[in-house]
Amino acid sequence: MKVNNVSLERVVGRIDQLPTNELVEIAFAGRSNVGKSSLINTLISRKALARTSGQPGKTQTINFYNVEDKVYFVDLPGYGYAKVSKKERDRWGNFIETYIKSSKQLKLILLLVDIRHKPSEQDKMMYNWILYLGYTPLVVATKMDKLKRSQIQKHIKILKEELNATKDTVFIPFSSHTKQGKEELWGQIDAHIEV
Ligand code: GTP
Ligand code: MG
Repeated sequence: MKVNNVSLERVVGRIDQLPTNELVEIAFAGRSNVGKSSLINTLISRKALARTSGQPGKTQTINFYNVEDKVYFVDLPGYGYAKVSKKERDRWGNFIETYIKSSKQLKLILLLVDIRHKPSEQDKMMYNWILYLGYTPLVVATKMDKLKRSQIQKHIKILKEELNATKDTVFIPFSSHTKQGKEELWGQIDAHIEV
């Protein structure tokens, strides 16, 4: 898709504010700091529409970006940030689960994991949770610029094994710094928008 017009249309902090959208939705999940907002900025070719920071836990709300009046990119709050209380974590889980279960337009969930590391317990839980909720996650292995080219496939293999990934789960190595993986990702997203 050629992207010229994008706006942050809605910022949702509470379950009772979740919208009933007409457009298709694509959601971006993953631990805090994995690069969700950076990925969104890369896909829409903007430097900083989706706010990013070195501070984990930045995005606490569910942010709906209207892309060309065709699709919403849904930036989900990140998990795994150590400094939040159990109560906050429960609230987070309930919020995301309610969104995923209640959205009628959600067609695809991208799960972002850092290509350098073994997935965390929470990454594994999230992967299985997405499957359980009826979606096949598209796994985006972020920050590939941090690895030597020769290491990429080895790390993808480890991710597949550690997540115990299903055969139909697609893995895409990606970097928001070099933009590698961008076209392949758009291919996957376009395929989900057009059905
Ligand atoms: P939360 O909003 O806290 O959930 O984080 P997020 O997943 O949105 O991460 P964000 O996009 O804010 O990126 C976190 C940090 O990682 C920032 O310092 C980014 O510059 C950095 N980062 C993101 N993507 C990449 C990448 O592809 N390569 C490298 N080297 N750094 C990246
Ligand atoms: Mg973010």
